[in-house]
Order: sequence, then C-alpha cells, then structure tokens
Amino acid sequence: MSSSTSNTDPAHNSAKIAFIGAGNMARSLIGGLLSRGYPASNIACSDPFEASLIEAGKLGAITTSSSNADIVAQADVVILAVKPQVMADVLQPLTSQLQTSKPLVISIAAGIASGSLQGWAGTGVPVVRCMPNTPALLRAGATGLFATEDVSAEQRQLAEAIVSAVGIVVWVAEESQLDAVTALSGSGPAYFFLLMEAMQEAGEKLGLSAEAAELLTQQTAFGAARMALEGDTDVAQLRRQVTSPNGTTQAALESFEANGMRDIVEQALRAAFLRSEAMAKELG
Ligand SMILES: NC(=O)c1ccc[n+]([C@@H]2O[C@H](COP(=O)([O-])OP(=O)(O)OC[C@H]3O[C@@H](n4cnc5c(N)ncnc54)[C@H](OP(=O)(O)O)[C@@H]3O)[C@@H](O)[C@H]2O)c1
Repeated sequence: MSSSTSNTDPAHNSAKIAFIGAGNMARSLIGGLLSRGYPASNIACSDPFEASLIEAGKLGAITTSSSNADIVAQADVVILAVKPQVMADVLQPLTSQLQTSKPLVISIAAGIASGSLQGWAGTGVPVVRCMPNTPALLRAGATGLFATEDVSAEQRQLAEAIVSAVGIVVWVAEESQLDAVTALSGSGPAYFFLLMEAMQEAGEKLGLSAEAAELLTQQTAFGAARMALEGDTDVAQLRRQVTSPNGTTQAALESFEANGMRDIVEQALRAAFLRSEAMAKELG
C-alpha cells in the first residue's frame, strides 16, 4: 500500500474530465477540483436529473449535459459517479465509444468489481476503482484506490490528483483490499459517530448539559484527530503521553481494555469486511 496527499498538479490540468452522474460525490469532486484551480472548461458532467445539473452548474462554468455520450466523446477521464445499481445501464450504451477512445475510467461506485466494469466498458479500458467516504463531501475524505493492469503510470497520477481534491488517497495493490478499505474508512465515520454519541450520553449522565457534552465531545474528537494527523508521533505513543500513572485517563483506559475494546473493534471491522465482500458478489 502507498499513500499520498498530492495536490492537483498543474501538469494534469489539461485532461478533460467527464462526470457521469452529478450527485453528491460528483459535485464534491468538482468543487474540490475547481477550488484547486482546475479549469472549469475541462470539466463536464451529465445527469438525467435537471436539478442535479443546475446544482453542479452553480459550482463554476463547467459543461453540463443530459447526454452521457456527448460528454464522454470529449473526455480523457470518465468518472462514474452513479449508484452501483445503474452502472450496467450507464456503461453498456457507451461501450463502442469507450473502446475507440479508451479514456481512463474511474468508478466511485461501491462493490462493483473492475472485471464487471471492463465487461460493460470493453476489454482494455483502463479502470481505477475508488472507495471514498462521506467526509469527502467536506473535502476531508479518505479514499482507497485500485488500478487495473491497463492503467498507465501517468493515468495513476492523474487519478490520484483528481481524487485527492477531496482528501487523502491510499493505493491498494489487490482489488480485494478495497473490502478492507470499506470496513476501515468507508464505514469508519459511523464508528466515530457511535463513540461520540456514547461519550455525549456518558457526559450527560455525569452531570453535564446536553449542549456542553456535545461540544466537548466534538472538539475532543477533532483535536485528537489533528494531533494524530499533524504530528510525527503514532497514536499508541500519543495515548501513553496523555496517560499519567494512576490518573483519570489511566482509569478510563483500563476500563476500556478490561471490557475488550480492541476485540470489539476488530469484530466490528471484520463484520463490515464480510458484508462488503458479500455485497460485491451480489452486485457481480
Ligand atoms: N456519498 C458518499 O459519501 C459516498 C461514499 C462512498 C461511495 N459513494 C458512491 O458514490 C456513488 C455516487 O454516490 P452519490 O452519493 O454521489 O449518489 P447520488 O447523489 O445519488 O448521485 C448519483 C447521481 O447519478 C445520477 N444518475 C442516475 N442514473 C444516471 C444515468 N443513467 N446517467 C447519468 N447519471 C445518472 C443520479 O440521478 P437521479 O437522482 O435522477 O437518479 C444522481 O444524480 C455511488 O455509487 C456510491 O456508492 C458515495
């Protein structure tokens, strides 16, 4: 696995990008690219839903269209930002176009294997699969990326530059590792929400107002994440640094460990991993 936080490189700004589907994820990516100076004239998106195109058009002077084929005709990169259930219907009418121009195809749809995507798009079409998470909507996402053998080194850089407009990216060498990405970061925001919910409830039981417990929990999560991300110290060391012998933190951490916190987390991620594998099989 390799990770990167690379910016959208000006060298990549000339690629023409077509977003199929102008929903939440597409709009977030478009907003991220524009904020990094990506030329609006090189971004197009299509969607059958007029309201989504109007929303996307508010982000900048991008091209909007109700025809997927029209925007794919111009594209160096095609980003599939539709729900998994409609993917086959979206790709099959585009097969001959994709076979001719062989653009880089980036799919953000959960659970659809690259083999299926290439089956609908045509063999030899370079495909990158992404597993983003919801903080991407705030450009604070964490995304796993997998490239098929048909993707060139330059196309990998381009995919990374595009997706890093909404957060950090991590490449995985095996497609099956995207199930682990799903279990860790894809579903991960909800794990933190659950812990925050439990901390808020406990704070209230200890006598704090709901407002105080909520604000203290949120800022503590934010501060802890910043310390983990911005320093050179790993989280185990950070934990030790804030744990004074015989102090309050030690009392809480011993309670967590005695109640099997690590096992609970491992079992939860394993359950998500197995569910991700099963859903991928259902989608084919
Ligand atoms: N949102 C997230 O945080 C998140 C996280 C991880 C992965 N993803 C993945 O990202 C993908 C997009 O998610 P999203 O949240 O952006 O969904 P979304 O808001 O529902 O966007 C999908 C868009 O695609 C449009 N669409 C449907 N059929 C189409 C067609 N034939 N041609 C062109 N556009 C079509 C939809 O239009 P209609 O509304 O008219 O159907 C909708 O505007 C999904 O596959 C999801 O699994 C999302």
